[in-house]
Amino acid sequence: MTPVIAKTREELAAVRSGVSGRLALVPTMGALHEGHRSLIRRARELADTVAVSIFVNPLQFGPNEDFDRYPRTFAADVEACAAEGVDIVFAPTREVMYPSEPLVRLDSGPMGGVVEGVTRPGHFDGVLTVVLKLFNLVRPDVAVFGEKDAQQLALIRRMVADLDVPVEIVGGPTVREIDGLALSSRNRYLSGDERRTAVSLSQALQAGADAVADGPSAVLRAARAVLDKAAAADPPLALDYLVLVDPATFTEVDDAHTGPAVLAVAGRVGATHLIDNVPLRFG
Ligand code: PAJ
Repeated sequence: MTPVIAKTREELAAVRSGVSGRLALVPTMGALHEGHRSLIRRARELADTVAVSIFVNPLQFGPNEDFDRYPRTFAADVEACAAEGVDIVFAPTREVMYPSEPLVRLDSGPMGGVVEGVTRPGHFDGVLTVVLKLFNLVRPDVAVFGEKDAQQLALIRRMVADLDVPVEIVGGPTVREIDGLALSSRNRYLSGDERRTAVSLSQALQAGADAVADGPSAVLRAARAVLDKAAAADPPLALDYLVLVDPATFTEVDDAHTGPAVLAVAGRVGATHLIDNVPLRFG
């Protein structure tokens, strides 16, 4: 069944008013892959009606980032949604989403300024602003986000808690290629050589995870050794960060830490910015 496609607020309001029962939303920027599709399947389990939003949000891209060249594959995305039994696709244009330049925006606070926020100032303010707008327009009972973007997921959970947004947030595990590379819409930018270097991100996380019994420092050491090799590869990995953080606050954990943690890594291969992480538990 092809989903109902709503491109305007009026079209969305019309289809939304006909929904009874629980509604789940999966927000995306399109270029849908198996990672997105796994979230859609999770959403299906959680609600009677599933909506997917497709919107490349200009607010969350920095001036030197890839907004203009971000992949836009709308026809294939609708086919993927149809194959997953999605009921509603909300695909607003920029003018629909932002009829005027938003003067009031969400502030992601200290949690938005660390880790990924260091190299992408304003990024998480843009993410939270568009996600809250999507929640207000679609009014889902539950929304599903990927653990692939662990800091984004943590910030959305925090926004919902701090601002009393009436929606349940559910996380879905990261979907990977056979060799470990986390699926990403940006992977299609990679040449064959670049892809070989890119896989070192997930290899470093795996090496870190294998050292979990030896504690936080050992985890970071093991992961760092893999990344050092990748930094010397051709083409090289330009590392942005490797951190071990508390999954709820994204503050770095110390060597005495017990309980859950996230080992997160980011870097550039050629012109492509890639991020990955793995959930761990100490003690
Ligand atoms: P996008 O990068 O399209 O991702 C949409 C959702 O898919 C996010 O929740 C992301 O974490 C999840 N996802 C991406 N790759 C995944 C993978 N390999 N496995 C599992 N889930 C994966 O994230 C965004 O869009 C935007 O920031 C958005 C939340 C839509 C706001 O604009």
